[in-house]
Parts: sequence; C-alpha cells; structure tokens
Amino acid sequence: MLLPGADSAREVAINWRTEAGVKNTVLQWARAIDSPGLHLAASTTSGQSRLLNTRNGVARHHSVRLANLTPDTLYAYRVGGADTWSEWLQFRTAASEFRPFSLLYFGDAQNSVRSHFSRVVREGFRVIPSTSLILHAGDLVNQGDGNHDDEWGEWFEAGGFLNGMVATVPVAGNHEYVPRKTSAGKPIRGLAPHWSAQFTTPGNGPPGLKDTVYYVSHSGVLIVVLDSFRAIDDESSAMLQARWLEEVLSRANARWILVSHHHPIFSVAVGRDNQILRKYWLPIYEKYGVALVLQGHDHAYGRGTNVIEGATLSSGLSPPVYVVSVAGPKQYIAAESAREGMQRIGEDMQLFQVIDIKADTLSFESRTAAGRLYDAFDIEYRADGTKQVIPLLNDGSPETRCGNPSQPKPSRCWEGTELAR
Ligand SMILES: [Fe+2]
Repeated sequence: MLLPGADSAREVAINWRTEAGVKNTVLQWARAIDSPGLHLAASTTSGQSRLLNTRNGVARHHSVRLANLTPDTLYAYRVGGADTWSEWLQFRTAASEFRPFSLLYFGDAQNSVRSHFSRVVREGFRVIPSTSLILHAGDLVNQGDGNHDDEWGEWFEAGGFLNGMVATVPVAGNHEYVPRKTSAGKPIRGLAPHWSAQFTTPGNGPPGLKDTVYYVSHSGVLIVVLDSFRAIDDESSAMLQARWLEEVLSRANARWILVSHHHPIFSVAVGRDNQILRKYWLPIYEKYGVALVLQGHDHAYGRGTNVIEGATLSSGLSPPVYVVSVAGPKQYIAAESAREGMQRIGEDMQLFQVIDIKADTLSFESRTAAGRLYDAFDIEYRADGTKQVIPLLNDGSPETRCGNPSQPKPSRCWEGTELAR
C-alpha cells in the first residue's frame, strides 16, 4: 500500500503485511532504471511493525516512511518477507510546484467488495492509467465488529498491484468505526484496528485525529481529508476539525483545494441530513475557495453547486461543488429534496470519477462501472481570479432510477450483500 506524505513530492509511506514471524521491517528502494539490477544501487530502510489478531490468526503489519525523495521522479521499491522479497513496484513522486495531473475518486465500496467493487477500480484504471492518486471517500469495507479481516482481503485484492504503485488517499467513514469500551466500561465507537495498521497517513492532523484527518500537498494542489463520523458523533470534534481546517487553508498556497470526508454536506439519500457539517465546515469551504468536496455515505449519486438556490439555477454556478458518489453495489433511493437542490442525481449505478486538474481548468467526469459518462463539468478560473462551474453533459440523458424489481426496502435499491451469494 503506497500513501502520499504531507508533501508527496518528497515523502511517501508504504504499508504491507506478512506472517507474524517476520519481525524485521525492511524495504529496499532506488530510482527506477532500465536495467534489472535495481538492487545494486538500492538503499535499505527499516520501519515499524505491529501485530494484529483477527479470526484469520495473527498477522504482522509493517510501515515505512520514505522522506527526502526527489520530486517528479520514478522510484522502484520492494518489501521484505520471510527470506524473500516482494516484486519491485514503481511510483512517481509528485512535482514540487503546480503540474497537471489526474486522480480517481471512489465512493463507498463497502459490500461484496471482491465480486462487485473490483470491476469499478479496474475500469477506472483502464480509463485513466496515468492517474497519480486514488481517493477512497470512506466505508471501504462493511466491517461491524472490527475483526473483518476477510473483507479487507477482498478490498486489497480488488485494487491489486495499483495499491502499491498509485498513492492512495483513504478517508474514514462510519464503517471504519467499531464498538469499543472505554477504560470505565462505557461503550463507544473507536477506529477499527485495521485502519492504522494498513494506512500510514501523514499524521499532520489535530490531536487525537492524526490517523483520519490530514492534508496532502500534491503537485501544487491541496487535498484535505476530514473525519465526518467523529464530527457527527461529537460536536467538539466538528469544531476542532474546523479550527484546524481554517488554520491549514489560511496558509495554503495551492492552485486548487479539494476536501474529502465521508458524510455529505448536502445529503442525497432519503431521510439523511448532516446539519452539523454545514454549520462548522461549509463556511470555511466558501471562505477559502474550496473547489470540490468529495463525499460518500448516501449510496447514490448527487452533484450540486449553489444547492441552497436550487437545481433550476443553470448559470453563474460557483464552487464549492459538492459530490456524493458510490462505487460498491449497495444502492439507496435519492430524496426529492436533493433532486430540487442538486444539478445531477442518480440511483442504481456503480460509479467512479476521473478528475483532471490543469492550471486554469479542473475537469470532472462521473462514469459508470460500464464506462458510460453520467455527469461532467469543468471548474474554470476567470480573469479576476474567481472560479465558475460549467456543466458539460447537456445531452438530455435522463436521470437513472432504481431498476431492481425486488427492492429490499422503499429507501433501498440494493443492500449490496445479496449479490455475492
Ligand atoms: Fe457510510
């Protein structure tokens, strides 16, 4: 698993898993060269490991951070196992100043991950093989009691070798939190143990949230990840994250700012609303010119700008653009209230997004698992430095609605769990 550091031109983190008996955490890395003799000039770096006990037994999870890398450079690395090495995997560091790049964004994978989410990841990679980041907007697996090692196995298999060569930006959702007890025996929900063992995030977030709140500076673009589960669970966490966010954005010098968290600012699914996020976070997004807010949780598609003014607004649209998407098979029904406020809604589709970032234009495409373009818009810088949103899919294609003849509930199109049996 490759993750970006705070400055992804110079820092990355790499996580891998071995049997418990592999006590040494060893990684070799070198600039990628034409010759197979990568090992001749390779440096060796050690790191840290921890044991994780699940129903599948005890495994050791390793973590190494690489720093002082050269920007815009192709590196190769391999990780150590029991008297053996992994294959050599390659990745390119980001540029030290603004440089155009693309990223892939996936909403919730969550259920039937191997059987149904894998095709979405692979179609995404086929459409944009040059992607330099992959963002997962929470609920990567379903989990429940914190011990679902099999589900994580499915998730890692779905991404396959991409996980080791394209830096991943993971966002924690509610399913990343599992029941725990405080030392006094009070039941709470805590971050599932797989998260920190598998994802060494930059660690630059506020106290107590360093594994799930962070920022990455990538080729002149700032990507900020927040923890909406904690914010909704505890208002003081929403305020703490807001203060940290404002501090980060007030000193940002990025061409574009993207934010991601799991629960939406503007909900799409029936019966959902996260008012606390609008209260504490939305004003900061507007104040600092955030271009895109990438979200999940509602298991439907929604894209809205100027949502308060309503969907009939078709010109003069300004960022932030709020997107809710879903990559896995669990599918909900969209609310009429969301239909009134957003510019594009959809149900019953597994989706991925290609975000192509240039100096003056950010181009956003939502594509279905079958490759169909379902939504597209640009965000453009105007001459006065402000930004405008330009909808691009004006083909009159109808909104997709749930097509499952045996919906499990009026609010749900598919549970997602009935499909892999
Ligand atoms: Fe969720």
